[in-house]
This record gives sequence, C-alpha cells and structure tokens, in this order.
Amino acid sequence: MATRFADRMQTVHRSFIREILKVTEDTSIISFAGGLPNPELFPVETMQKAASDVLSQSGPEALQYSTTEGYQPLRQFIADRYRSKKGIEVDPDEILITSGSQQCLDLLGKVFLNAGDNVIFERPGYLGAIQSFSVFQSGFVTVGLEEDGPDLDELEKALRKDNTKLFYAVPNFQNPSGLTYSAEKRAGVAEVMKGSDTLFIEDDPYGELRFMGEHQKPLSRGYIKDGSVLLGSFSKIAAPGFRLGWIVADKEIRDRLVVAKQASDLHTSTVSQRIMYRYLSDNDIDSHIEKIRDRYGRQRQKMVESIERFFPEEIKVTKPEGGMFLWATLPEGMSSMDLFDTAISHKVAFVPGRPFYVDGSGDNTFRLNFSNSDEERIAEGVKRLGNCLKDYLAK
Ligand SMILES: Cc1ncc(COP(=O)(O)O)c(C=O)c1O
Repeated sequence: MATRFADRMQTVHRSFIREILKVTEDTSIISFAGGLPNPELFPVETMQKAASDVLSQSGPEALQYSTTEGYQPLRQFIADRYRSKKGIEVDPDEILITSGSQQCLDLLGKVFLNAGDNVIFERPGYLGAIQSFSVFQSGFVTVGLEEDGPDLDELEKALRKDNTKLFYAVPNFQNPSGLTYSAEKRAGVAEVMKGSDTLFIEDDPYGELRFMGEHQKPLSRGYIKDGSVLLGSFSKIAAPGFRLGWIVADKEIRDRLVVAKQASDLHTSTVSQRIMYRYLSDNDIDSHIEKIRDRYGRQRQKMVESIERFFPEEIKVTKPEGGMFLWATLPEGMSSMDLFDTAISHKVAFVPGRPFYVDGSGDNTFRLNFSNSDEERIAEGVKRLGNCLKDYLAK
C-alpha cells in the first residue's frame, strides 16, 4: 500500500540539530552543538523529596486527570513571580500551563494560522518555531536582527505584507544568536506594532539566565499593551524533563488555546505540575537560579576569552550577557557546513547556521553552546576550532 501522508508534512523537516547530535554522540568529540542545560545543575535530590511528598500526601489527586488550564497554585506562583521579578501584572486565569513552551507554538499555530498565512520571523530564528509553524503551511517574512534587536524598518515593511498574522520573537538571549533587545528597541517595536492586528509572540525561556547587565522588562504588557502573548518555561531554570511551560494570554485568546490543547492532550501532566509546585514552595528557586547563572556565566566567560585567544580575528562572535549560546559569523562567501566536516575530523562540533534562516541565507554563520561543557573542555574545544578556522581560511 502506498503511504498517503498529509500535504502539510511535505514542508516540515526533521530537526537538523537532532541529526547533528547523532554525529556528536562520540565522546571524544567536544560538542558545542546541543542546546542542553547542564545536567549537573538539575535539582535531583530536592525534586526527589518533592515527588515523594506529593505522592505520599496527595497521591490519588496527583495521578488523576485534571483541568486543561493547569494546576491553580502553580499558575498563581507564576503570576506572583511576574509581578515581583518583572513588574508586570498577570492574572492566574490568563495563564495556561503547557507541555513545555514548545507546545505553545503548536497551539498558537492551530488557533491562528490558515495555510498561506505569514509569520514574521527573526533572521536568524529559533529552529523549533520554524518546525512548529511550518506544520500549518505558513509562509515566513523575515526581519534581520541587529546587535540590539530587530531592524525596525524591515519590521515596518513586514507588517504591511498581506496576512502577517503573527510576529514571533525571542527578545532575551535569543536562540540561536544570544542577542537581546535593548530598552530602546523594545519601545521601537511597540511603536511600530501599535494599531497592527499582527499578534506579537514573545518567547522567553532564557530571560532569567542573565549573568551581567540590567534585566529588561518583557515587551508583552511592559511595552505592548494589547495584542501580545508571553511564553515561559521551567526547562532552563529547573529541568526540561518535566516538560512544563506556560503561556500568558488575555482571556479571549487563552480560551481558544484551551480548546486547542483539549484536542491535543487534554491537559499537562498532573503529577509533573504538582511536583514542580511542591519543589517551588519548599525551596528557594532564586538561589537555584543564581547557581545556574554563576556556572553558565563562568562558562560563557571562558568561551569568550578562549575565542579571543584562539580564533582568527576575521571571525565575528557575539558576547551575550546571558542565556546559553554564542553566534559566530565567518567572512562572506564562506560556508560553515564545509567547516563542520573539518571540525568533526578535529573532534569538535557546532551547529551550522543555515537551518536557522528560513530564506536560505546564513551559510557563513554558526552557533556555539556554552551551557553544557565545563571550562576545561570549552578551552580545549575552542582551541581545536580555532585551528580548523585557521586551516579553513588559509584554503
Ligand atoms: C527559543 C526557545 N523556545 C522554546 C523552547 C522549548 O522549550 P521547552 O523545553 O519549554 O519546550 C526552546 C528550547 O530550547 C527555545 O530555545
């Protein structure tokens, strides 16, 4: 029998990064390719206690079906944290708990995108969002990223195109570039978007991982008062294995997302939500986040210093103030795909940049992850990569 897949899957590709990660399973390769949090920082013992307390004190409720919106005390915790840490007002009834923030992208696609609708997308942009939106047969209109945020002229032009339903952005320590929107650019984006009926999607899984500089207010509710949603995640501040994220949306949008989520999976794991809430109630999450910041900050510093020492000066690299990634640009006309093969033979890996561009550009860029290697391996890996780069430039 011929297998008759749906048309919508024709344009959706396997995650390029997951394919690369297979190559880097060889432990002699120092890999800056993945985007994983450092597992040494997962709160294993405190989670074990939280899980045991939940199961012994409210086992039947924790193992039962529950509401689609999510566990109310967890939503209250998230709302309180937005008020105290970010200075924005969020009602717990405006929050929907999801299976990771990745699920929010799928639900937003279901609720907003007809085939042929356009999504305004950062150039470069988050690969997982390209995959999610492509399932809905969307088109992309890209907006270039400058050092302090999007090119506002390009954004203005993009907003004038037909059917630009959504503008998806990662304004803090973006994946893949590590770039953060400045306060001026945030205000500029809000100004350009005023009166537009394009929904602004702010994806913020890295915002709490700031090692230096000033925290920025979210665009959503901080700058854009109407027509935005804000995504969050426990993956980078606690552990991704729980698959817990959330979306903040005004009631009309949230109710639609609830219906889409019911159709997908009824609700997010009850037991995950209760264990996470117990963990957050019994422990000081701020001091845990401080530990992550301290470790990642040192690893980022080591990577920046090693790059200054070992990379040829023609290679431009971002110096992010937080998050998990640095972004490198080779001279025009060079290909990081070619460099990748040489790098693997030198036992070091990164992610070539082209898959992060929906318009096929970016061949001369690549992403480096610093969260999941210790300082010694970072220094050694950057040295190896520096040697490859020198060989490659000399060709
Ligand atoms: C920008 C961005 N959004 C969303 C996600 C998905 O995170 P989660 O584990 O919350 O689904 C990631 C994961 O790396 C990401 O980088």
